[in-house]
Amino acid sequence: MNIRIRNFKFNNLFMEHNKKVALVTGANRGIGYEITRQLGENNFTVVLTSRNSEKGIEAQEKLLLSGLDIKYHQLDVTNEYSINKIAEWIGKVFGVLDVLVNNAGVLIDRNPALQADINDIRKTMEINVYGVLKLIQALVPVLEKSSDARIINISSDMGCLSEMGPGFPGYRLSKASLNALTVILSHEFMHKNISINAVNPGWVKSDMGGANARFTVAQGADTAVWLAAAKNIPTGKFFYNRKIVPC
Ligand SMILES: NC(=O)c1ccc[n+]([C@@H]2O[C@H](COP(=O)([O-])OP(=O)(O)OC[C@H]3O[C@@H](n4cnc5c(N)ncnc54)[C@H](OP(=O)(O)O)[C@@H]3O)[C@@H](O)[C@H]2O)c1
Repeated sequence: MNIRIRNFKFNNLFMEHNKKVALVTGANRGIGYEITRQLGENNFTVVLTSRNSEKGIEAQEKLLLSGLDIKYHQLDVTNEYSINKIAEWIGKVFGVLDVLVNNAGVLIDRNPALQADINDIRKTMEINVYGVLKLIQALVPVLEKSSDARIINISSDMGCLSEMGPGFPGYRLSKASLNALTVILSHEFMHKNISINAVNPGWVKSDMGGANARFTVAQGADTAVWLAAAKNIPTGKFFYNRKIVPC
């Protein structure tokens, strides 16, 4: 990992900061919480964010007990005010963002597409896709301040055309869109020091994945954390188990 000395401001004091700064969305539980924990173990300063402050601060306090460098900020990815607030805060406190993990996501509809409620699809797209794009747009100025910024979108093979099947229309459409957005932005970032990739964490035991899922949250978080810390990574790709896979 590149060690750089920067000035950052915390509690109104400017301090020397030689660690990379990461931000994780939807980090109060599940895969996002575990990505935050593992990034902390990898010597990142991590901004744990959640839409509900109480739940987020509780999660932060648990991680602080392990001696990790975890800050907290509220963030609802569907709320433009909340997005602008955090972008401003990152700029003021750190002046830079090295890693953005777009993890927050919902799976609302499990019905066949023919019986889908369009409002469920709209709600899913707001969180899983439009929220991601709006957050990236707001954070580009601080990502551009990093010499090697990385955006990691937590996606799913349920959004791959090669794996497409019936049901879950909102979720499948949202993750297919997120995969497309990853490639679109990788082209738009071509002349910036920002890479962007999508990750399939696998079927993970969480509130979303359920108790019968195949992988632990630690296994589900692994590829995202590896992409955040690895020396050289590509851009515009879809990863599973630390490998580029077709999607
Ligand atoms: N689990 C799996 O098997 C699996 C498989 C493939 C991909 N994924 C993807 O992995 C990511 C994490 O999933 P998970 O299994 O950890 O799910 P989870 O346990 O249900 O956690 C989802 C997280 O997203 C947050 N969230 C939802 N809406 C939000 C919003 N508007 N703003 C900010 N945060 C919001 C939730 O916050 P609240 O606590 O406030 O609800 C929660 O922290 C998702 O993108 C999911 O699609 C999961």
